Amino acid sequence: GEYGHSPPVYPSPKITGTSEWETALNKAEHFVSSLTLDEKAWLVTGVPGPCIGNIGPVLRLNFTGLCLQDGPNAVRPSDYVSVFPSGITIASSWDRDLIYDRFHDLGLEYKGKGAQVALGPVGGALGRTPYGGRNWEGFSPDPYLTGVAMESGVRGLQDAGVQATIKHWLLYEQETQRSPTLYPNGTLEFSTYSSNADDRTIHELYMWPFANAIRAQASAAMCSYNRVNGSYACQNSKLLNGLLKEELGFQGYVMTDWSGLHSGVASAQAGTDMDQPGHIEPMTTLLNQTRLSSYFGGNITLAVRNGTLPESRLDDMIKRIMTPYYALRQDQDFPATDPAMAYYNTQFSSSNYSMDSLVFGEKSRDVRQDHGGRIRQHAAESTVMLKNTNGTLPLKAPTSIAIFGSDAAPNTQGLFIRGPSEIGTLAIGGGSGNGRFTYLVSPLEAIKARAVQDNTLVQFWLNNTVIKDANVESLWGATAPEACLVFLKSRASERLDRESLAVDQHGDTVVESVASKCSNTIVVTHSGGMTIMPWADHPNVTAILAAHYPGQESGHSIVDILYGAKSLSGKLPYTVPLNASSVNTAPTTNITTSGVDDWQSWYSEGLEIDYRYYHTHKIPVQYEFGFGLSYTNFSMASLRVKPTHPEARILSQPEALATRPGGNPALWDVLFEAEVTLQNTGSTSGATVAQLYISFPDEVSAPSLQLRGFEKTYLSPGESYTATFPLMRRDLSYWNVTQQTWLIPEGDFILRVGFSSLDLHDSVVLRPVE
Ligand code: NOJ
Repeated sequence: GEYGHSPPVYPSPKITGTSEWETALNKAEHFVSSLTLDEKAWLVTGVPGPCIGNIGPVLRLNFTGLCLQDGPNAVRPSDYVSVFPSGITIASSWDRDLIYDRFHDLGLEYKGKGAQVALGPVGGALGRTPYGGRNWEGFSPDPYLTGVAMESGVRGLQDAGVQATIKHWLLYEQETQRSPTLYPNGTLEFSTYSSNADDRTIHELYMWPFANAIRAQASAAMCSYNRVNGSYACQNSKLLNGLLKEELGFQGYVMTDWSGLHSGVASAQAGTDMDQPGHIEPMTTLLNQTRLSSYFGGNITLAVRNGTLPESRLDDMIKRIMTPYYALRQDQDFPATDPAMAYYNTQFSSSNYSMDSLVFGEKSRDVRQDHGGRIRQHAAESTVMLKNTNGTLPLKAPTSIAIFGSDAAPNTQGLFIRGPSEIGTLAIGGGSGNGRFTYLVSPLEAIKARAVQDNTLVQFWLNNTVIKDANVESLWGATAPEACLVFLKSRASERLDRESLAVDQHGDTVVESVASKCSNTIVVTHSGGMTIMPWADHPNVTAILAAHYPGQESGHSIVDILYGAKSLSGKLPYTVPLNASSVNTAPTTNITTSGVDDWQSWYSEGLEIDYRYYHTHKIPVQYEFGFGLSYTNFSMASLRVKPTHPEARILSQPEALATRPGGNPALWDVLFEAEVTLQNTGSTSGATVAQLYISFPDEVSAPSLQLRGFEKTYLSPGESYTATFPLMRRDLSYWNVTQQTWLIPEGDFILRVGFSSLDLHDSVVLRPVE
């Protein structure tokens, strides 16, 4: 049945406000009390307009409406905006402040364009499977790292005055079958996939980062396309009423993913507050017209009139929508929506909506300010160096270099790269996380410009199909180049899971071809996540850099790293296994039997995703989670841990305090503090990331290692530093399914510190509860 095996949780919890949002809630309550029933239905339902999502105005109350725009990497659809490094890229920086700044800059661009609501950051897909088409929009398959990034992202956006929408809630880990399959007559052939996970896995992996984001007062949450344990995420009362609003104390509003609503009253009762893209007309009988009609809209008015939906629930929906708006002072001097954005919005191109009401006098508003410089810096600081033999990098005024690969090249088919372009560098993924470049610096252009300083001879081959079978020696003539740079790309996109974990366009053969002749082959990958690197141990492959999707300054960022202008300090936010057959999680595909409920995606690996799996089962990997080299060396010693309240006895169970955003505040209490001493033992300044991992006592079954703290620090040669890791109650707890609470188990924890999940330098035993 529709609700499957997900238990019912009703009624939908009402907004209670928070101390920070108290005045805003009062304003929202006042606003609601002035509305007619039709206006109320109007406010919870999207309408056509210039933005990807629009809430219409109530002009008699001086409310000019809401403009909702994608996404996590750029204001989209729009022009004269910056394209920022993607989520997985900046996660590789392991730098809270960098992530905050990057989202703050993005937030300023939203505000500049007059978009109140940003459709990001992304905490789901978490990255359960490396084949996932959208992992690059999010941060890392590690929930702790993603949680920290979500928190920084929400604060960054909201400090800039725009609403953050945390998405996608929840267990949206694959693109395959994310939308229902309909027969030509409009009836349902297959429903969307159902992600089926156990309660503990849901809490410890998938909800975890959202808890951080909600604690940071996220304004909105987007419910996902998929079903969870049998019931659509946007009408799953356990997910929305139970976990999100009750357990995590979420005070904002739940909007649907676009056309992700499959019922009206049932979804409103289950906790959905806004339908996007909506349309105010009531749902018609023809399913292929869903774009022009809504299960909300006029149906909400009818449902309140006939008593199926309590008006108090509708009022709560609007209070949740309006409170963040007032809290962020969007009622005061918020820029008008840039009307030129409508030009790029294809969402309603087939509708009869007229844009006459928009003033088209204004040209595209340029909101980029000085963000390009920081994008360059952020992407450089997020680059991960995986190999560097004999100090091949940084380059030292080479007399000759050769550049290989389509990914080095400028894009020759325009800057708005919708589909895979054969020759051209890849700097962002596809779909709603895309952005419209105003410029994109390719590696080739940037290297050529930099090479002038050293009078370096630069030659290049850009066609992978040619390089893979060529004798590359024929390119360079008498003298071999001092370095051969190979640029590889791996495309990832919304609506499309990856078919392979290899790089695109015969990239592996390209590396083999170059490395067979060039004894100093340096490989740079631009990818949306993990790619298998079968050439990693090739003796002629002397250096490997994973640059992910760096955004518009791509070429400049990599030049800064190749030539050593920026300190290298990125660390992998996932594992690179030895080969694809090591991977234990794949999207659910190829369902062959017939029946609407056939698409079942069983999360049978439970907690064991990415390194939690490899480490627990001692599976050798190519490059482990948390790994990344630098241009200097560091030492780490003397891990110690002390209670922050020495006199207090710690109980296994958290005190039952009134829920606040983020859940029971007792979970966020810092119980212990661990410290470790670092030193830069090399001869250049540089940054590193001290990482803290815990192992649970044997009494509890858990992955053998879990990240529970990290700190990035910049040190000059010889300089020492004490890194501090606050350990909160949540960090030491597991979700106990029978008692339905977080518990600290009795017994010995082991805390370990190091520079990666395998490069561990010290450990201590901790017994928090007796
Ligand atoms: C669908 C995507 O899943 C979502 O992330 C996006 O915000 C909406 N489309 C609007 O473009």
